[in-house]
Amino acid sequence: TWTPDAFVDTTVAELKEKLGNDKVVLGLSGGVDSTVAGVLLNKAIGENLHCIFVNNGLLRKNEFQEVLDQYEHMGLNIKGVDASARFLDALKGVDDPEMKRKIIGRVFIEVFDDEAHKIKNVKWLAQGTIYPDVIESVSATGGPSATIKSHHNVGGLPDFMKLKVVEPLKMLFKDEVRRVGSSMQVDEERLGRHPFPGPGLAIRILGDITAEKVKILQEVDAIFINGLKEWNLYDDVWQAGAMLLPVNSVGVMGDERTYEKCVALRAVESTDGMTADWVNLPYEFLQKISNDIINKVPGVNRVVYDISSKPPATIEWE
Ligand code: XMP
Repeated sequence: TWTPDAFVDTTVAELKEKLGNDKVVLGLSGGVDSTVAGVLLNKAIGENLHCIFVNNGLLRKNEFQEVLDQYEHMGLNIKGVDASARFLDALKGVDDPEMKRKIIGRVFIEVFDDEAHKIKNVKWLAQGTIYPDVIESVSATGGPSATIKSHHNVGGLPDFMKLKVVEPLKMLFKDEVRRVGSSMQVDEERLGRHPFPGPGLAIRILGDITAEKVKILQEVDAIFINGLKEWNLYDDVWQAGAMLLPVNSVGVMGDERTYEKCVALRAVESTDGMTADWVNLPYEFLQKISNDIINKVPGVNRVVYDISSKPPATIEWE
């Protein structure tokens, strides 16, 4: 029978055998899969694993620094690269969702390739691919996820993609990945983290992206997500986040009329993201979060809650 401990032992032995003294590069995202892949490879080859964590400037509030600290604490050989300005610059004036994804995908590859080149004699590219990703790419010959949204845009072939590929989690399902992580003492909070899209807050800011809008959305999102944790609702939700809408609406503050931004909160239940239902969050919670957002985040005077299911609505608004 399959057990996480046995999987770790066998896989570490296989990785040692396969990789020998070779250097391996791995992009970490803070997500469950890449993190568990990193810890497993670190167990097998230690310093020969070179991890790269890119800040695209579109992560959650404080996420880059917190996750980087956590990775260092876990003993990973990791380099954090703050490329926020490069991403924001490339996204300037762009409001089309697919264009945003393409640009973010392209810049990520450029940044990652630059970093990978700095590692002398790297032989392998490691990836946190899990079994459902394998199935998806086999069937991605124009299926809905391939045509409706280009989740993984890759243009040309950068050098790091010519490396040999090692994917230690390729045969595992998500719950098995979590159990493997758990058996290697990966922080439970990291293992239970909600999914977060690669393009990050870019696809939750409807319309064009500016540093100021990112800042506003990070504050709103942090109030919402921390609130879910404080109210013990986080684990009842599959994914949650806030959307910054491209509309201003009239409000009133003291004796003055305001004309400010509106945010939409979204929380869904799902098993794989293909279908999803909005979560019936308690009114008291929504009331508290709405008040906190409006009182604490300058520039926002209205909060709405998204009660649409997927299909026909998607989880993200872009
Ligand atoms: P949708 O909005 O299509 O989202 O219902 C389904 C799941 O996929 C995530 N998502 C993305 N993940 N790059 C990603 O890595 C993307 O471009 C992207 N678009 C959506 C979304 O957060 C949800 O978990």
